[in-house]
Amino acid sequence: MDKKFKRTLVTTALPYANGPVHIGHLAGVYVPADIYTRYLRLRGEDVIMIGGSDEHGVPITIKAQKEGVTPQDIVDRYHNIIKNSMEGLGISFDVYSRTTSDMHHKTASDFFRKLYDKGEFIEKTSVQLYDEKADQYLADRYVTGTCPKCGNERAYGDQCEACGTSLNATDLINPVSAITGNTPVLKETKHWYMPLDKWEPKLREWILEQHKEWKPNVYGQCKSWLDDHLQPRAVTRDLNWGIPVPVEGADGKVLYVWFDAPIGYISNTKELLPDTWETYWKDPETRIIHFIGKDNIVFHCLIFPAMLMAEGSYQLPENVPANEFLNLEGDKISTSRNWAVWLHEYLEDFPGKQDVLRYVLTANAPESKDNDFTWRDFQARNNNELVAILGNFVNRALVLTHKYFGGVIPEAHELLDIDREALAEFKNVKDTLGANIENFKFREALKDAMNLARIGNKYLADTEPWKLAKTDMARVETIMNLAVQICANLAIAFEPFLPFSAEKLRGMLGMGEVDWNKLGDTDILPAGHAVEKPVLLFEKIEDAAIEAQMQRLERIKQENIVANFKPKAVAPQVTIDDFAKLDIRVGTVLECSKVKKSDKLLQFNIEDGMGGRTIVSGIAKWYEPEELIGKQVCFIANFPPRKLKGVESQGMILSAEDADGRLIVIGPTGPVKPGASVG
Ligand code: MF3
Ligand code: ZN
Repeated sequence: MDKKFKRTLVTTALPYANGPVHIGHLAGVYVPADIYTRYLRLRGEDVIMIGGSDEHGVPITIKAQKEGVTPQDIVDRYHNIIKNSMEGLGISFDVYSRTTSDMHHKTASDFFRKLYDKGEFIEKTSVQLYDEKADQYLADRYVTGTCPKCGNERAYGDQCEACGTSLNATDLINPVSAITGNTPVLKETKHWYMPLDKWEPKLREWILEQHKEWKPNVYGQCKSWLDDHLQPRAVTRDLNWGIPVPVEGADGKVLYVWFDAPIGYISNTKELLPDTWETYWKDPETRIIHFIGKDNIVFHCLIFPAMLMAEGSYQLPENVPANEFLNLEGDKISTSRNWAVWLHEYLEDFPGKQDVLRYVLTANAPESKDNDFTWRDFQARNNNELVAILGNFVNRALVLTHKYFGGVIPEAHELLDIDREALAEFKNVKDTLGANIENFKFREALKDAMNLARIGNKYLADTEPWKLAKTDMARVETIMNLAVQICANLAIAFEPFLPFSAEKLRGMLGMGEVDWNKLGDTDILPAGHAVEKPVLLFEKIEDAAIEAQMQRLERIKQENIVANFKPKAVAPQVTIDDFAKLDIRVGTVLECSKVKKSDKLLQFNIEDGMGGRTIVSGIAKWYEPEELIGKQVCFIANFPPRKLKGVESQGMILSAEDADGRLIVIGPTGPVKPGASVG
């Protein structure tokens, strides 16, 4: 690894404590950061991984207002869920703290004060949106309106999620308060601004000239911001939740959440290492890496670095390997729409299967473009890759070692070409796998690791030790020695990716501490060493478990459709004469059955007081025929008859269409003589 650095500081975006952690967070930030950190630890490097909850900001106060509880209640609830579930997945933070801690309040407050004393802020009075009914200034997510750039009608006061533009609340067209739904007025208020324009030349030089190696998505976004030129940005807000602005005459004002949150990385490092934290932030021999999602790029690559430059004593990040987004079954993940797979629920639904999720999220990580998580893919990767390739190889190798050698690793003798070929294939794995991780190519790195298991399977299939056992036991000894060495390699290679399974495997092999430098070696375990009877590393995931998850998502989709239902616009006006042309009657359903060769149509025999009639109606998806027998319905009696799937229909049964497209038959609320007119 790069000799320039003596130690590494890994930071992970602090998740908002306004909801639990979902697979999008994991795939984008925490799983890759954990792989990277575990890898460095395995190499014996000095590395720390910093995490924590982001507990300020408007998303949290809005959630509290909606639920009628305090913001503190909200952050307490979600901080604990987030912290416990991340631990459950083996995300190995050295510290996971929170931005409501005393340490953080003091650190962020002092940081602001230092910049203030150095004259690094511009003080500016401006007009801001104000909700008179709520008696509150509106910024960020407190206001929605139309994006001036793309016309999206649901843009927020800080950002338009449709086009990604960063906005000021006053930029919105037709702004509406998220608290009361009122149209806000303009009112004067004073705030402190970071003059980002002042730092633009330095940021340009630092990123565009000195960090051409950054991921194209990150570099490109920075370049586009810089080419558009940076404006001064307010770093304070009129809000009663957050860190008070430590300046005279700033009552009712707090630090902007994006000012305090990244300082949380510093506060949490202090909490972890009260005496030596400064080395990790200020020594040029520290490599600082920020793991984030793409919506955080501007804050980590431009704004926070400008704050650090203004402060003067900190190092800038060496890399910011931001990921794109993970979608879920084709739709954007959304906390507010509950469209997510929540980590704490996954851990409950799939106990002991942490590594399966880690594997799938890494294999499918949105490293260079948005990607999709589907439950079918999850199942297929588990059954066809983890079970069929990795688990299968380890199991075969250990079962055979027990069968032929009572679990004691045999001696390897002279190697044949077939052995050398297998070995040659994984001689380079240490370098390629390592380089891929160091370059933040975790999908490729995982493939490298998986390839070892593939080589192992192929080796056993090609050499067929079970056949040789009858004729050439010395040969079997060599083969099984090598097979067990491949298992030991897997225990090392998979440790960063699948730590639970790697630990299980080490247990079975009786391996002590793992050493990355041994990866690729074929004498990791000595002959004569005993291995345990294998337990299965992975088990098949059955259809029922997957279908249960898909049904849950289907339910949520329906709930969202209903929650977002808007009646359609009223049709152009008609006269009573227009209406009178329709002859609507009440009838009683005498018989009802499915129309043959159709899954949509039901056939009704209706008592209509006029001798009866047959009507065919497209509601089979929502009704069992028996449910409707004996019920009264309204129907149009004067449509011309027409044939549907060979049955003549003499009219149309009326129904209402619910938000989710469901049809519900309309009838009188009390008994009515069949044939009665409706009008
Ligand atoms: N809470 C932010 C988000 O979820 C991330 C904050 S990262 C930090 O988008 F650097 F500010 F901490
Ligand atoms: Zn927009």
